[in-house]
Amino acid sequence: MSKRVAVLISGRGSNLGSLIDAADDSYKIIHVISNIADAGGLERAAAAGIATSVIPHAGKSRGVFDAEVDAALRGANAEIVVLAGFMRILSDGFVRGWEGRLINIHPSLLPAYKGIKVHERVIAAKETTSGASVHFVVPELDAGPVIAQASVPVHPADTPDDLAARVLEIEHQIYPEAVKLLAKGKVNLCNGLAAFSP
Ligand code: GRF
Repeated sequence: MSKRVAVLISGRGSNLGSLIDAADDSYKIIHVISNIADAGGLERAAAAGIATSVIPHAGKSRGVFDAEVDAALRGANAEIVVLAGFMRILSDGFVRGWEGRLINIHPSLLPAYKGIKVHERVIAAKETTSGASVHFVVPELDAGPVIAQASVPVHPADTPDDLAARVLEIEHQIYPEAVKLLAKGKVNLCNGLAAFSP
């Protein structure tokens, strides 16, 4: 049976688009939640016939916001929660409540370059390789066990936008593959590690 996947976004939602396009009988996107009312990804979801909610974060404590998101996810009977350009840090309580069922994509080869302004920092450090990582979400930011990773070259003349575009292409490949692994039970969070089975 297809796993019920909810996707949390804050922006254009190109990863959401790749997840919509790649869905097979292992997972079904049943709900998209954005904290930003005009996030482009909401239109992409609606065009695909997926239910959407906007849950603004402004003026709320983290605990109140996270509780609202949690209630929406549980109300939608989500089984897996996928963060796709969701620009809010989730509280430890929220993360623990979805442990092993909550994943994120980050535009670096984790554990290198956690946090923001990744491409700027990669270029400033004159790295020759960068990439993207899908990981289980744990309370510590960008520190969860990696499920899937792919690399791209960094060229000497790259601007951060050039590199972001090259990394985004591989994000669109590895994120659906990682969601399928999780949906099929082929990867699990086990004692703080990503455990793979055939
Ligand atoms: C991606 O680069 C992702 O790695 C990061 O935020 C960006 C989201 O892009 N977490 P999009 O909204 O999926 O197009």
